[in-house]
Amino acid sequence: MTEKFRETAEFLKQQISIRPEVGIILGSGLGGLGTKIENSVAISYSDIPNFPVSTVEGHSGKLIFGQLGGKNVVAMQGRFHYYEGYPMAQVTFPVRVMKLLGVTSLMVSNAAGGLNPNFKQGDLMLISDHINFFPESPLRGKNLTEFGVRFPDMSKVYDHTYLKMAKEIADSLNIPVQEGVYIGSSGPALETPAEYRLFRIFGADATGMSTVPEVIVAHQQGMRVFGMSVITNVTTPADGEETTHEEVQDVAGIAEPKMTAIIKALIAKL
Ligand code: HPA
Repeated sequence: MTEKFRETAEFLKQQISIRPEVGIILGSGLGGLGTKIENSVAISYSDIPNFPVSTVEGHSGKLIFGQLGGKNVVAMQGRFHYYEGYPMAQVTFPVRVMKLLGVTSLMVSNAAGGLNPNFKQGDLMLISDHINFFPESPLRGKNLTEFGVRFPDMSKVYDHTYLKMAKEIADSLNIPVQEGVYIGSSGPALETPAEYRLFRIFGADATGMSTVPEVIVAHQQGMRVFGMSVITNVTTPADGEETTHEEVQDVAGIAEPKMTAIIKALIAKL
Protein backbone atom coordinates (compact mmCIF):
# COMPACT_ATOMS: atom_id res chain seq x y z
CA MET A 1 0.00 0.00 0.00
CA THR A 2 2.75 2.44 0.96
CA GLU A 3 4.24 2.00 -2.51
CA LYS A 4 0.92 3.02 -4.04
CA PHE A 5 0.71 6.17 -1.89
CA ARG A 6 4.21 7.12 -3.01
CA GLU A 7 3.55 6.38 -6.65
CA THR A 8 0.43 8.57 -6.60
CA ALA A 9 2.16 11.39 -4.72
CA GLU A 10 5.11 11.29 -7.15
CA PHE A 11 2.73 11.42 -10.11
CA LEU A 12 0.96 14.48 -8.68
CA LYS A 13 4.25 16.21 -7.89
CA GLN A 14 5.34 15.70 -11.49
CA GLN A 15 2.06 17.03 -12.88
CA ILE A 16 1.69 20.02 -10.57
CA SER A 17 4.20 22.51 -9.22
CA ILE A 18 1.94 23.70 -6.35
CA ARG A 19 2.98 22.17 -3.00
CA PRO A 20 -0.16 22.25 -0.82
CA GLU A 21 0.01 22.77 2.93
CA VAL A 22 -3.76 22.60 3.43
CA GLY A 23 -6.01 19.73 2.32
CA ILE A 24 -9.75 20.20 1.91
CA ILE A 25 -12.43 17.52 1.53
CA LEU A 26 -15.73 18.75 0.12
CA GLY A 27 -18.89 16.91 1.08
CA SER A 28 -22.13 16.27 -0.81
CA GLY A 29 -23.43 19.45 -2.43
CA LEU A 30 -20.49 21.40 -1.00
CA GLY A 31 -18.25 21.38 -4.07
CA GLY A 32 -18.79 25.13 -4.64
CA LEU A 33 -15.74 25.94 -2.53
CA GLY A 34 -13.69 24.52 -5.39
CA THR A 35 -14.63 27.47 -7.62
CA LYS A 36 -13.05 29.89 -5.10
CA ILE A 37 -9.63 28.34 -5.49
CA GLU A 38 -7.35 30.68 -7.42
CA ASN A 39 -4.83 29.73 -10.11
CA SER A 40 -6.42 26.32 -9.97
CA VAL A 41 -5.29 23.18 -11.70
CA ALA A 42 -7.73 20.27 -11.57
CA ILE A 43 -7.05 16.59 -12.17
CA SER A 44 -9.86 14.05 -12.51
CA TYR A 45 -9.62 11.10 -10.19
CA SER A 46 -9.81 8.87 -13.24
CA ASP A 47 -6.48 10.33 -14.43
CA ILE A 48 -4.65 9.74 -11.16
CA PRO A 49 -2.91 6.38 -10.75
CA ASN A 50 -4.28 4.23 -7.89
CA PHE A 51 -7.10 6.69 -7.12
CA PRO A 52 -10.54 5.19 -6.61
CA VAL A 53 -13.26 6.72 -8.79
CA SER A 54 -16.23 8.40 -7.11
CA THR A 55 -19.61 6.95 -8.03
CA VAL A 56 -22.14 9.18 -6.27
CA GLU A 57 -24.28 11.76 -7.98
CA GLY A 58 -23.20 15.25 -7.02
CA HIS A 59 -19.59 14.25 -6.42
CA SER A 60 -17.73 15.26 -9.53
CA GLY A 61 -14.48 13.58 -8.60
CA LYS A 62 -11.40 15.73 -9.01
CA LEU A 63 -8.45 17.09 -7.11
CA ILE A 64 -8.13 20.87 -7.33
CA PHE A 65 -4.75 22.45 -6.60
CA GLY A 66 -4.36 26.20 -6.19
CA GLN A 67 -4.53 29.00 -3.63
CA LEU A 68 -7.22 29.81 -1.12
CA GLY A 69 -6.86 32.45 1.57
CA GLY A 70 -3.31 33.00 0.32
CA LYS A 71 -2.21 29.42 1.04
CA ASN A 72 -1.44 26.55 -1.28
CA VAL A 73 -4.26 24.03 -1.04
CA VAL A 74 -5.45 20.79 -2.54
CA ALA A 75 -9.19 20.13 -2.47
CA MET A 76 -11.02 16.90 -3.09
CA GLN A 77 -14.21 17.64 -4.96
CA GLY A 78 -15.94 14.36 -4.28
CA ARG A 79 -14.87 11.84 -1.68
CA PHE A 80 -14.96 8.07 -1.40
CA HIS A 81 -17.62 6.64 0.86
CA TYR A 82 -17.57 3.33 2.64
CA TYR A 83 -21.15 2.68 1.46
CA GLU A 84 -19.96 2.72 -2.14
CA GLY A 85 -18.15 -0.50 -1.37
CA TYR A 86 -14.60 0.82 -1.07
CA PRO A 87 -12.41 -0.74 1.59
CA MET A 88 -11.34 1.73 4.29
CA ALA A 89 -7.85 1.87 2.76
CA GLN A 90 -9.39 3.33 -0.40
CA VAL A 91 -11.75 5.67 1.45
CA THR A 92 -8.72 7.20 3.16
CA PHE A 93 -6.21 6.78 0.30
CA PRO A 94 -6.21 10.49 -0.67
CA VAL A 95 -5.49 11.55 2.91
CA ARG A 96 -2.32 9.42 2.93
CA VAL A 97 -1.32 10.93 -0.41
CA MET A 98 -1.96 14.44 0.93
CA LYS A 99 0.49 13.72 3.74
CA LEU A 100 3.17 12.77 1.22
CA LEU A 101 2.43 15.99 -0.70
CA GLY A 102 3.23 17.98 2.43
CA VAL A 103 -0.26 18.78 3.74
CA THR A 104 -0.22 19.60 7.46
CA SER A 105 -3.82 20.82 8.01
CA LEU A 106 -7.02 19.15 6.85
CA MET A 107 -10.40 20.88 6.46
CA VAL A 108 -13.27 18.41 6.20
CA SER A 109 -16.89 19.09 5.35
CA ASN A 110 -20.01 17.00 5.08
CA ALA A 111 -23.78 17.00 4.86
CA ALA A 112 -25.36 15.60 8.01
CA GLY A 113 -28.65 14.96 9.71
CA GLY A 114 -29.22 17.07 12.82
CA LEU A 115 -29.85 15.05 15.99
CA ASN A 116 -29.66 17.95 18.43
CA PRO A 117 -33.21 19.28 18.85
CA ASN A 118 -31.89 22.85 18.75
CA PHE A 119 -30.58 22.40 15.22
CA LYS A 120 -32.49 23.61 12.16
CA GLN A 121 -32.22 22.62 8.53
CA GLY A 122 -29.45 24.67 6.91
CA ASP A 123 -27.47 25.22 10.13
CA LEU A 124 -23.68 24.93 10.13
CA MET A 125 -22.10 22.80 12.85
CA LEU A 126 -18.43 23.06 13.75
CA ILE A 127 -17.30 19.55 14.67
CA SER A 128 -15.83 19.39 18.16
CA ASP A 129 -15.49 15.59 18.33
CA HIS A 130 -16.72 12.44 16.63
CA ILE A 131 -17.97 8.92 17.27
CA ASN A 132 -16.74 6.18 14.96
CA PHE A 133 -19.81 4.03 14.33
CA PHE A 134 -18.46 2.47 11.14
CA PRO A 135 -18.05 -1.29 11.37
CA GLU A 136 -14.25 -0.96 11.20
CA SER A 137 -11.37 1.41 11.72
CA PRO A 138 -9.34 2.70 8.76
CA LEU A 139 -6.25 1.83 10.84
CA ARG A 140 -7.18 -1.86 11.05
CA GLY A 141 -4.45 -4.11 9.66
CA LYS A 142 -0.70 -3.81 9.62
CA ASN A 143 0.34 -0.44 10.99
CA LEU A 144 2.10 1.86 8.54
CA THR A 145 4.70 3.11 11.02
CA GLU A 146 6.08 5.67 8.58
CA PHE A 147 2.76 7.51 8.92
CA GLY A 148 2.05 7.15 12.63
CA VAL A 149 1.73 5.01 15.71
CA ARG A 150 -0.28 1.83 16.16
CA PHE A 151 -2.46 3.21 18.95
CA PRO A 152 -2.98 6.92 18.32
CA ASP A 153 -4.37 9.05 21.13
CA MET A 154 -7.75 10.45 20.11
CA SER A 155 -8.40 12.92 22.93
CA LYS A 156 -7.82 16.05 20.81
CA VAL A 157 -8.66 15.16 17.23
CA TYR A 158 -10.37 18.40 16.15
CA ASP A 159 -7.80 21.12 16.70
CA HIS A 160 -8.94 23.38 19.55
CA THR A 161 -7.18 26.43 18.15
CA TYR A 162 -8.84 26.00 14.74
CA LEU A 163 -12.22 25.58 16.43
CA LYS A 164 -11.76 28.77 18.43
CA MET A 165 -10.57 30.68 15.36
CA ALA A 166 -13.53 29.41 13.31
CA LYS A 167 -15.98 30.58 15.98
CA GLU A 168 -14.41 34.03 16.02
CA ILE A 169 -14.45 34.18 12.22
CA ALA A 170 -18.12 33.10 12.07
CA ASP A 171 -18.95 35.81 14.62
CA SER A 172 -17.12 38.48 12.69
CA LEU A 173 -18.87 37.43 9.46
CA ASN A 174 -22.25 37.34 11.23
CA ILE A 175 -22.72 33.68 10.37
CA PRO A 176 -24.45 31.76 13.17
CA VAL A 177 -22.83 28.38 13.87
CA GLN A 178 -23.59 25.43 16.08
CA GLU A 179 -20.96 23.18 17.58
CA GLY A 180 -21.18 19.49 18.32
CA VAL A 181 -20.31 15.83 17.98
CA TYR A 182 -20.56 14.05 14.61
CA ILE A 183 -21.33 10.35 14.50
CA GLY A 184 -20.27 8.56 11.34
CA SER A 185 -21.85 5.29 10.22
CA SER A 186 -21.77 3.33 7.01
CA GLY A 187 -25.15 4.12 5.44
CA PRO A 188 -26.34 4.23 2.69
CA ALA A 189 -29.77 3.86 4.26
CA LEU A 190 -30.63 6.85 6.41
CA GLU A 191 -31.43 6.06 10.02
CA THR A 192 -34.72 4.82 11.37
CA PRO A 193 -36.32 7.02 14.05
CA ALA A 194 -35.11 4.51 16.66
CA GLU A 195 -31.54 4.77 15.33
CA TYR A 196 -31.66 8.58 15.37
CA ARG A 197 -32.80 8.39 19.01
CA LEU A 198 -30.00 5.96 19.80
CA PHE A 199 -27.39 8.25 18.24
CA ARG A 200 -28.74 11.15 20.26
CA ILE A 201 -28.50 9.07 23.46
CA PHE A 202 -24.90 8.26 22.48
CA GLY A 203 -24.18 11.97 22.71
CA ALA A 204 -24.04 12.91 19.04
CA ASP A 205 -25.42 16.13 17.58
CA ALA A 206 -25.26 15.23 13.89
CA THR A 207 -25.04 12.04 11.85
CA GLY A 208 -23.56 11.24 8.47
CA MET A 209 -21.79 8.66 6.33
CA SER A 210 -18.30 10.10 5.97
CA THR A 211 -15.56 12.17 7.59
CA VAL A 212 -14.68 9.87 10.51
CA PRO A 213 -12.41 7.52 8.50
CA GLU A 214 -10.50 10.38 6.83
CA VAL A 215 -10.15 12.24 10.12
CA ILE A 216 -8.83 9.20 12.00
CA VAL A 217 -6.13 8.73 9.36
CA ALA A 218 -5.32 12.44 9.24
CA HIS A 219 -4.94 12.59 13.01
CA GLN A 220 -2.83 9.47 13.17
CA GLN A 221 -0.37 11.00 10.72
CA GLY A 222 -0.18 14.24 12.70
CA MET A 223 -2.37 16.58 10.65
CA ARG A 224 -4.31 19.34 12.38
CA VAL A 225 -8.00 18.85 11.61
CA PHE A 226 -10.97 21.18 11.27
CA GLY A 227 -14.43 19.81 10.43
CA MET A 228 -17.78 21.31 9.56
CA SER A 229 -21.21 19.78 8.93
CA VAL A 230 -24.10 21.33 7.08
CA ILE A 231 -27.32 20.19 8.72
CA THR A 232 -29.33 19.20 5.66
CA ASN A 233 -32.23 17.61 7.48
CA VAL A 234 -33.48 17.31 11.00
CA THR A 235 -34.00 13.86 12.38
CA THR A 236 -37.22 14.58 14.21
CA PRO A 237 -39.17 15.81 11.18
CA ALA A 238 -42.84 16.69 11.21
CA ASP A 239 -45.10 13.68 10.66
CA GLY A 240 -44.91 12.17 7.23
CA GLU A 241 -41.85 14.09 6.06
CA GLU A 242 -39.12 12.08 4.39
CA THR A 243 -35.53 12.94 3.50
CA THR A 244 -34.27 12.60 -0.07
CA HIS A 245 -30.75 12.82 -1.47
CA GLU A 246 -31.91 15.77 -3.63
CA GLU A 247 -33.03 17.65 -0.53
CA VAL A 248 -29.71 16.94 1.18
CA GLN A 249 -27.82 18.31 -1.82
CA ASP A 250 -30.09 21.34 -2.26
CA VAL A 251 -29.80 22.40 1.37
CA ALA A 252 -26.04 21.82 1.31
CA GLY A 253 -25.78 23.95 -1.81
CA ILE A 254 -27.67 26.82 -0.15
CA ALA A 255 -25.47 26.72 2.98
CA GLU A 256 -22.24 26.19 1.04
CA PRO A 257 -21.26 29.88 0.57
CA LYS A 258 -21.36 30.41 4.35
CA MET A 259 -19.23 27.34 4.94
CA THR A 260 -16.80 28.41 2.23
CA ALA A 261 -16.47 31.92 3.71
CA ILE A 262 -15.53 30.47 7.11
CA ILE A 263 -13.07 27.93 5.72
CA LYS A 264 -11.41 30.49 3.45
CA ALA A 265 -10.99 32.98 6.32
CA LEU A 266 -9.68 30.22 8.58
CA ILE A 267 -7.10 29.12 6.03
CA ALA A 268 -5.99 32.74 5.63
CA LYS A 269 -5.31 32.89 9.38
CA LEU A 270 -3.46 29.59 9.75
N1 HPA B 1 -28.30 10.47 8.17
C1 HPA B 1 -27.11 10.06 7.65
N2 HPA B 1 -26.43 10.75 6.76
C2 HPA B 1 -26.93 11.93 6.35
C3 HPA B 1 -28.15 12.42 6.85
C4 HPA B 1 -28.85 11.66 7.80
O1 HPA B 1 -29.96 12.02 8.27
N3 HPA B 1 -28.36 13.62 6.24
C5 HPA B 1 -27.29 13.85 5.42
N4 HPA B 1 -26.42 12.82 5.49
